[in-house]
Amino acid sequence: MATVHTDTSGILSEDQSGKREEIIEFLKKAYWMEIETVMSYIANSVNPDGVRAQEIKESLEQDITEELGHAQKFAERIKELYGVVPGSEEFSAEQSYLQPPDHQTDVVHIVRGVIEAETGAIEHYTRIIEVTDQVDPVTQDMVIDILHDEQGHRRLFEGFLREYEAEGLA
Ligand SMILES: [Fe+2]
Ligand SMILES: [Fe+2]
Repeated sequence: MATVHTDTSGILSEDQSGKREEIIEFLKKAYWMEIETVMSYIANSVNPDGVRAQEIKESLEQDITEELGHAQKFAERIKELYGVVPGSEEFSAEQSYLQPPDHQTDVVHIVRGVIEAETGAIEHYTRIIEVTDQVDPVTQDMVIDILHDEQGHRRLFEGFLREYEAEGLA
C-alpha cells in the first residue's frame, strides 16, 4: 500500500501542529502589518507637497515594492505551514500615526510615522525570531532577512529626521 511520506519531526510534523498554529498567528499579523504599510506608503508617496517632500516621496515609492514583497513572503509561509492566508474582511487598521497630515507640506509628520511603523515591524519580527528559535529555522531565516530590510528603512528615515532636527524643523 502506498503511503505518503510525512515528517516525523520538525515544524511540519503532526505533533508540532500547536506550535505551527502559534507561528501562523504571528505570520498573519506580520502579513497585515505589511499590507497596511503598503497602503500608508502609497498615500504618503503621493500626498506631500513641496521641495522637501520630494526625497521622502521617492524613498517611500521604492519601499512600496519591498513591503509588498514582504507581504507575499509572509503569505507563502502561512500556506507552507498548512495555514490559510486571511481574506480582506479580517483586516483592521492600526497605523493611526500614518494618516495624512493636516498640511501636505508637513513632511516631519510622515517621517515620524514611518519610523513608528518600521519600529513596530522590527519589534514584531524580533518576536517571531524568538518564537521560531530551534523549532522553525526556515521561518526564522526568512524573518531575519525581512527584519534586516526594516532596520534599513528605519535607519534611512532616522537620518531624514536628524536633518530636520538639525535645521530646527523637527
Ligand atoms: Fe516590510
Ligand atoms: Fe519597512
